[in-house]
Amino acid sequence: MGTVFVSSPLPGDAVERLAREHSVAVGAPHVGVRGEAFAARAGALDAIVTLLTDRVDGALLARTPRLQIVANVAVGVDNVDLEACHARGIAVTNTPGVLTEATADLAFGLLLAAARRITEGDRLVRAGAFVGWTPTLLLGTRVHGATLGLVGLGRIGQAAARRARGFGMKVLYAKRTPLAPETERALCVTRVALDDLFAASDFVSLHCPLTPETRHLVNADRLAHMRPGSVLVNTARGGCVDEAALADALDGGPLGAAGLDVFEDEPRVHPGLLARENVVLAPHIGSADRPTREAMARIAVDNVLAVLAGRPAATPVE
Ligand code: NAP
Ligand code: GLV
Repeated sequence: MGTVFVSSPLPGDAVERLAREHSVAVGAPHVGVRGEAFAARAGALDAIVTLLTDRVDGALLARTPRLQIVANVAVGVDNVDLEACHARGIAVTNTPGVLTEATADLAFGLLLAAARRITEGDRLVRAGAFVGWTPTLLLGTRVHGATLGLVGLGRIGQAAARRARGFGMKVLYAKRTPLAPETERALCVTRVALDDLFAASDFVSLHCPLTPETRHLVNADRLAHMRPGSVLVNTARGGCVDEAALADALDGGPLGAAGLDVFEDEPRVHPGLLARENVVLAPHIGSADRPTREAMARIAVDNVLAVLAGRPAATPVE
């Protein structure tokens, strides 16, 4: 029997399954590995089920000499020092695939809400300010037939590209390695250089991981070259965008609106974004439909069960 720390309660029965085979402690929401429950057990832990809000770094690893696996309940692993884990022979796993469609759904939700001013309209109606139909009320940006630029075209980016076809959009993409020509044809996407994507798109949606290379990929210079009235959607990671530069580009142009699920310093949101009507804000809920979140918990727990039984994890991060 191993000793496992689960950062926070998880949806579904995954933690119960884990507890049938191992000694499990569950941390408090919003506290996770920063809390007393973790500190009290750290030296004895064989496995940790982490959230993207838990920082797994050298300091944490120094307190967990027995650790065999870090099972992150997320596809993104920018919260984990992979090099430090691998140097210690600790497996790191994530939850790819099961959250692809849910996250692409939310990206499109934000795109539509920002373009068609849905949340502004909601606020207006609730304030009692809807006094009747007029030809000029809340005129927005046309989605159908517009050009969508996707930064990153992996699982979620490709799911976004499939949705874009239904809206008659022209889709450009940028990633370091091109897709196979037959995949490009099947998705009806065209690869362009990153700077050209920003200049040629009516909508830009981010679907890359946060890495040293993608930190502040959306910066003042790229924002300045975006089309007048264009819309930025971010369901990737907040650190991919320079939020101060984004607030400026929304104030002085050329950007028309933004739809954001993720923030540079979560849960804090840049005051310049909070203050603006033309920013749609979501609290990092890209994968938050119930079946998806239950599947993520299941995968994380299955990885812990496998590694503690001496089997390989199903979704290791190399
Ligand atoms: P994926 O399948 O690994 O796709 C990542 C894509 O990003 C690949 O196409 C990759 O292509 C590209 N990429 C990597 N570095 C790049 C760079 N420097 N410039 C341009 N493109 C780059 O990952 P996924 O499953 O689609 O997930 C993507 C990210 O979404 C995750 O890492 C996570 O941060 C975020 N996410 C957020 C939520 C949410 O709740 N909001 C939910 C799920 C995921 P190349 O390697 O060829 O460049
Ligand atoms: C969520 O943000 C994830 O990376 O799964």
